[in-house]
Order: sequence, then C-alpha cells, then structure tokens
Amino acid sequence: MKLLKPENALIEELLATIRDKNTPYYVFREDLERLGELLIIEALKELKLKEKTVETPVAPAKVKTVSEEVVFIAILRAGLSLLPAALRVFPKGRLGFIGTYRNEETLQPVNYYVKFPLLKSARYVLLDPMLAMGGTAEQAVKVLLEKGIEENNITFISIVSAPEGIRRLEKFRGLTIITASVDEKLNGNGYIVPGLGDAGDRFCG
Ligand code: PRP
Repeated sequence: MKLLKPENALIEELLATIRDKNTPYYVFREDLERLGELLIIEALKELKLKEKTVETPVAPAKVKTVSEEVVFIAILRAGLSLLPAALRVFPKGRLGFIGTYRNEETLQPVNYYVKFPLLKSARYVLLDPMLAMGGTAEQAVKVLLEKGIEENNITFISIVSAPEGIRRLEKFRGLTIITASVDEKLNGNGYIVPGLGDAGDRFCG
C-alpha cells in the first residue's frame, strides 16, 4: 500500500474551513469539493499519455493526450460530494457507485448497492471523504478485486484519514491512498479525532 499526503498550502487552507464546526453546510460542501479536486489531480497526474499532432493557428504541434480510461466510484453517500470535482478534473471519467453504510451499533460496513463499469486496465478511483476504521474502504476494495480489477489500478481518495483505517488497508500491497490529512486516532464511537464530524451529514445539510 502506498500512502500519499500531498504538501500543498491550499489543502491546509481548505482543511481549516471544513474542520470548523461553525462552517455552514453550503461552504463545507464547496470547500470539500475544492479539496477533493486537489487530491484527484494528484491521483491522475501519472496517467499514461499518447502522442498526436494538432494544427495550431501557426504550425503543426506534437501534443499528448490521456490514453487510459478512468472510473470514479463514489462510496455512498458522502462520496457523492467528490464526484463533481472528479468530473471537473477529468470529464471523460466513467462513473460507478458503491452503497455502503456503517452500522452504528456494530460499526461494521454493510454494502447495499454496487454498480460500476468494468473496463480492462482502467484506473479505478474510489471517492470517500473519510477513512475511519477502514471497514468501508476495505469492503469497496474487495468488491473491485473480486471483479478482477488489479490492486495497482486502484486509488482510494480520502480527505481525512485515521491511522487505524490506513493500517487496515496495508494488506492491499498495490493500493494507493491519497489523503489530505492523517489524523490522531479514532474515538470510542469510531469517529476520527479531531476529524471533521460526519462528512455525509455535513455535506447533505
Ligand atoms: C462514513 C464515511 C465512510 C465511512 C468511514 O460514512 O463517509 O464511508 O463512514 O467509516 P469506516 O472507515 O469506519 O468504515 P457513513 O457510514 O457515515 O455513511 P454516509 O456516507 O451515508 O454518511
């Protein structure tokens, strides 16, 4: 497993707003999206390229375009908050959904909906603002692996992550996690400390 935490002043600025409990939901939503955009750019910056020639108004120019397919998978519900950002960064991206909720008594994830395009060799980018105990992420990665997608082609985008969740994903050797912050710990209710509260609730308003 590869863990990337991009160093970027803009990420820190946006984290400051979304962590603040006094930030209204519509500002939270917007800043979460902008933060997502910065992480998704990071996730896609090494996509394979192919060369072609275009005519500028002056002369022919050799240019490069992306030659790989990308599938963005939003983990419902909070992962939906990152989809507009994903499509702004890469409009050709295909879309999928994995519906997972955390049973608040057992704290275990339950899948209730799985649908995404299966494309050979595509890059799969899982979107979820929070990686807490890691059960939800583990379930999502397992679903992709069961469909034959290779670990090396899976990136998990999480805005705020707990060390416990990251450790749980270590067994996926080829997986990449991109996060804006690795926080201190989880509390007894499975919430990230200091975290940002319940991202799904705050995004939905
Ligand atoms: C939150 C969050 C993750 C999950 C993380 O979703 O968006 O999906 O919890 O927890 P875990 O790492 O301990 O599995 P939640 O279950 O609250 O659902 P929601 O997106 O509908 O708010």
